[in-house]
Amino acid sequence: MNRLDSFGIYFDETSSTFLLQTEKASYVMSVVNGYLGHVYFGKKLGYYPGKSVLRGSEYTYVSGKPGDKCTFMDGYPFEYSISGTGDFRTPALKIKNSDGFTGGELKYKSHKIYDGKKGVQGLPATFGSEKDTKSLEILLTDDVLGLEVTLKYSIFEGIDAVVRSVHIENKSDKEDGTFYIEKVMSSSFSLTCSNHEVITLHGSWARERIPDRRKIGHGRTSISSTRGISSHQEHPFMAVVSPDAGEDSGDVYGVSFIYSGNFLGEIERTQHDELRINMGIADDNFSWELKNGQSFDAPEAVLTYSGEGLGRMTHSFHRLFTDHLIRSPYLHKKRPVLINNWEATYFDFNEERLLQIARVAKEAGIEMLVMDDGWFGHRDSDNSSLGDWTVYRKKLPDGVDGLCRKINEIGLEMGIWFEPEMISPDSELYRAHPDYAIAIPGRPASECRNQFVLDLTRKEVRDCVYEQVAEILRSSNIRYVKWDMNRPLTDVGSLTTRGGEFHHRYMLAVYELQERLITEFPDLLLENCTSGGGRFDPGMLYYSPQFWCSDDTDAIERLYIQEGTALIYPPSTIGAHVSICPNHIVGRTTSLSTRGYVALAGTFGYEMDITKFSEEERAEIKKQVEMYHSLNPLVREGTYYRISSCSGLTKGNEKNKSFAWMNVSSDKKEALLTHVQERGGANERSVVLKLKGLSEDAVYKLSDGRSFTGDELMKIGFVTDKIYGDGASKLYHFIAE
Ligand code: DGJ
Repeated sequence: MNRLDSFGIYFDETSSTFLLQTEKASYVMSVVNGYLGHVYFGKKLGYYPGKSVLRGSEYTYVSGKPGDKCTFMDGYPFEYSISGTGDFRTPALKIKNSDGFTGGELKYKSHKIYDGKKGVQGLPATFGSEKDTKSLEILLTDDVLGLEVTLKYSIFEGIDAVVRSVHIENKSDKEDGTFYIEKVMSSSFSLTCSNHEVITLHGSWARERIPDRRKIGHGRTSISSTRGISSHQEHPFMAVVSPDAGEDSGDVYGVSFIYSGNFLGEIERTQHDELRINMGIADDNFSWELKNGQSFDAPEAVLTYSGEGLGRMTHSFHRLFTDHLIRSPYLHKKRPVLINNWEATYFDFNEERLLQIARVAKEAGIEMLVMDDGWFGHRDSDNSSLGDWTVYRKKLPDGVDGLCRKINEIGLEMGIWFEPEMISPDSELYRAHPDYAIAIPGRPASECRNQFVLDLTRKEVRDCVYEQVAEILRSSNIRYVKWDMNRPLTDVGSLTTRGGEFHHRYMLAVYELQERLITEFPDLLLENCTSGGGRFDPGMLYYSPQFWCSDDTDAIERLYIQEGTALIYPPSTIGAHVSICPNHIVGRTTSLSTRGYVALAGTFGYEMDITKFSEEERAEIKKQVEMYHSLNPLVREGTYYRISSCSGLTKGNEKNKSFAWMNVSSDKKEALLTHVQERGGANERSVVLKLKGLSEDAVYKLSDGRSFTGDELMKIGFVTDKIYGDGASKLYHFIAE
């Protein structure tokens, strides 16, 4: 037998078995009695496996005896399950016919395997070339409904990930064969082990993406958002892990979703102690009408496998998102060091105030001023003017273009804030078009932050807001846009869009608007933001290379938030700024240098009134900017490793007192170690950190002249300098001799 080790997608005719081979993982499906079953996902196999785990022969139904189909339907590990005909586990697909009855059966029809990968109509999607990407499409059908389901799989050379999506088509030949998709998961697979745990990222406003690790009990465990955004509270990500999984060992199955709206991630531990793991659009309030000839595309989900713990999972996501998802021309570029006026002035600014900040910022080496909320309509607080993207002359007498010219004369670039998806009740737009706001006809909608959400599912509404935003950008030399979004969707109703379709059509509209923006302004640096990181997800990264990570800019809180975010998102995507102390959100004071090191782990920038800083502090900021210029290429392009953490991501680490992480260049010649002591303690010694990703044989030097072999640093460890106090920190830059 020939081994099938190389990267590729294989099909064995005799056993009807599919084998997807990535760098170190295999994904296997096979057909029993026409039903596609999930055989395996895990450590790489060398050959096609048998399909005994599908237990075909144990079912009398499969052996041709009548009467026991239900047992089969409820026990078979369907690759893509459908409800209503005996499978009582949580389904991947639920279709209701025009009489309101739910039921279907999906049988394998055909498949195709090809090089490269197709996009998904109207949705963010991974991409790949014919050289490094292979795809598989499997067609399943239900002849009674006239339903065609195409399961799509893509794999990428060098990355242990399988990207999946689903295309549903109504091919009914009945006169009115309309049916309704009541639930459509983008991925579903089964695991035969029962003792796994799950890690999810939970949070709140200003406390996003905090790891939560727990056992998976019987029944259903789920995470979801029904807020119309992927949300601060739960995140479209799950890692199903073996109980022993740590940073470098154990089985880790990562599941992520390339989507920014309502989602559902669920795990069902069945009566037979198997796991069914689903990820897709939330079925709550979802019902998509599909008439004869119509089709629906589900967003892409990403599955990763690591047999070497959480670290390898992180690297798979980072590589996939960097090489196959983010399209921005800024992806591999140093982003301009910006200063944002939000925490400096909030709404209380005018042209002169911004110019003062710009002048001092310029002296410190800062490269861009971003004018945040409050420059339009008559906005002096959060209670007016969203939807009126015309300049507030009281604050900016010479307009945005006038301010931009003056900022450019100082030697800085300019960026601007918009919240294009919103409308204030106190706005010209609302007075002229109250129906532009999302509301259930006849029911007053709930205000949140004194604002409503625009019904972007209507083309005239999209055009109206797009033209206003584009006009500002067309008429001034703006190089950066912060696209904010500050409330969830409630009271969902529309003059034109069906209820069960609204949330998804809203997301399609947001994606369309952002696509229009980056198409018309290809050089624009777009940063997304949703009251901080409420929509920081792979979907938005398709349009913008960075996302404002959190409104909590406190350096210590950020250790948790940024570690949780970097669990799957590359450092180059994590919007991070140095801000004022005591911190406005938590009231904590942390040294300027620690604030700088923590911001360096992301995109880096400032968010403070620099004019109020002392000469010494400004000089320190100047040094930080220089540090950013010299170290950002390593942070942005290097491989990220968690070295020490207090987050509970790996068992028992909550007892640690410090966070440490590394960024290592791809040739392993350069490495940056950041060590932040969250809490100081009495009679403590320096910490020994086992470094990662280095070359064993290389000798690494620090700027103080000390040198170490990579072998020593990784096996014995690096003894940090003793640092004193809460939030104390130190940076170590290792360079191979
Ligand atoms: C929420 C954002 O996260 C902040 O950075 C700021 O832009 C405000 N909105 C402005 O209203």
